[in-house]
Amino acid sequence: MKQVVSFDRLARYEGNLPRYTSYPTAVQFTDDVGFSLYKEWLQALPEGEPVSLYLHVPFCDELCKFCACNTQVVNQEAIRTAYGDLLCDELMRLAGFLKTRRSVSFIHFGGGTPTTLPMIAMKKVMQTIYSLFDIQKDADISIELDPRHVSVEYFSNLHPLGFTRVSFGVQDLDPKVQKACGRIQSKELTAHCIDVVRQNHIHSVNIDLIYGLPNQTTESLRETIRSVVELKPDRLAVFGYAHVPWKFKRQTLLEGDVLPDSVERFQQRQVIDEILQEAGYQVIGLDHYALPHDTMSKAAQQGTLHRNFQGYTVDDAPALLGVGASSVSIVPQGIVQNHPSVAAYQKAMAGGGELPIVRGVERNEEDLLRWTVIERLMCDLHIDLKQVTSQYNKPDNFFDDALAKLKSFEDDGLVQITDYKITVTEEGRCFLRNIVVVFDTYYRVAPQRHAQAI
Ligand SMILES: C[S@@+](CC[C@H](N)C(=O)[O-])C[C@H]1O[C@@H](n2cnc3c(N)ncnc32)[C@H](O)[C@@H]1O
Repeated sequence: MKQVVSFDRLARYEGNLPRYTSYPTAVQFTDDVGFSLYKEWLQALPEGEPVSLYLHVPFCDELCKFCACNTQVVNQEAIRTAYGDLLCDELMRLAGFLKTRRSVSFIHFGGGTPTTLPMIAMKKVMQTIYSLFDIQKDADISIELDPRHVSVEYFSNLHPLGFTRVSFGVQDLDPKVQKACGRIQSKELTAHCIDVVRQNHIHSVNIDLIYGLPNQTTESLRETIRSVVELKPDRLAVFGYAHVPWKFKRQTLLEGDVLPDSVERFQQRQVIDEILQEAGYQVIGLDHYALPHDTMSKAAQQGTLHRNFQGYTVDDAPALLGVGASSVSIVPQGIVQNHPSVAAYQKAMAGGGELPIVRGVERNEEDLLRWTVIERLMCDLHIDLKQVTSQYNKPDNFFDDALAKLKSFEDDGLVQITDYKITVTEEGRCFLRNIVVVFDTYYRVAPQRHAQAI
């Protein structure tokens, strides 16, 4: 068993913090930033550089009580199809606002459950993308799937449409945990889906897991992780359960015992980490694992891993353009978000030829500098501050206040600091959010805003 951080030290790092998938974080979005500014940003994107697309489909077939994603149960095919038409409409508007036809290196369909789009609607969306953008030959095109609600026929259409990667929600295999979460899904079903996608020429498979759920124990997780390893996913995202019932009332419906506290969560995370590393997975950033052949492992080794609203990514395009209700777009000049509810998104789309932006934030040079530091620490667990500050024409001592705040982390063995170089130790990995918050000048303590950091 690896050396663990002592429990009294753990208590000092408890608290709710942003996930740092962008900087500034979503808390800083305001309605001062809207369509007209985003349009200027789009038109100023350098020609010749690829863009990435994120498409959000906010529908599911069933409600998972733990879910903290923008989704709702919608079963009517007509509503799902009409939503697909709106995605096509928004894509056409977006392409119109870009100065030239762009090449696309990454496309991700997230949700909700994007396969709730009927195949005919999905084909229309993909054809619209192919008609408006030049999809690079080696483009990474991925989709999130719910193994309980996808047909063999749907799987067989993914590769012909260009999909290269799928992500399956699993969360936990223990029946007691599944019951508490209202998500019953056998290992056999997940295994069958993985076989079928692989037979259908999709060779990169991710599995999502969650720890910190009701009824989970280190022992039950040991079983789950051993079983998941047998499925040989190429990648795993292992999230700490984000309990934010003030945002998502469905979480108050969770059954079972009280939620594991931060000491139990920490121990659960350790068990998962040990089994996955023993099985040959490389640990990536805060919460991802990948086999050595996977592009995410290679990017982590080469220092080219990135972070965006989807979590860790190998996507290195300078602009991520979001489409669909609640989607977030990130360009160097700033970040914008579409209307989150389907009703408001539909209304905004019906209101004219604009993009359905509801809020956002403009980024200045200092925001970009701070994002560079936060992103590199979250991805590489290392940063040479002198090198970065000089790139942004700032003095070497620009981050002295932040370094002073890291002193207690250094004393706890979570970071090492020499000559403005910060290295997060293996012990410090699970405290990455606590470490990078010292570089966030906007952060204010507010209990009901973010999820638990550990
Ligand atoms: C939008 S969901 C898509 C999953 C897919 N629709 C399915 O049902 O399998 C993406 C992932 O977010 C993660 N997630 C959702 N709610 C979460 C929460 N409260 N805390 C941590 N992770 C969460 C889950 O691991 C989930 O698989």
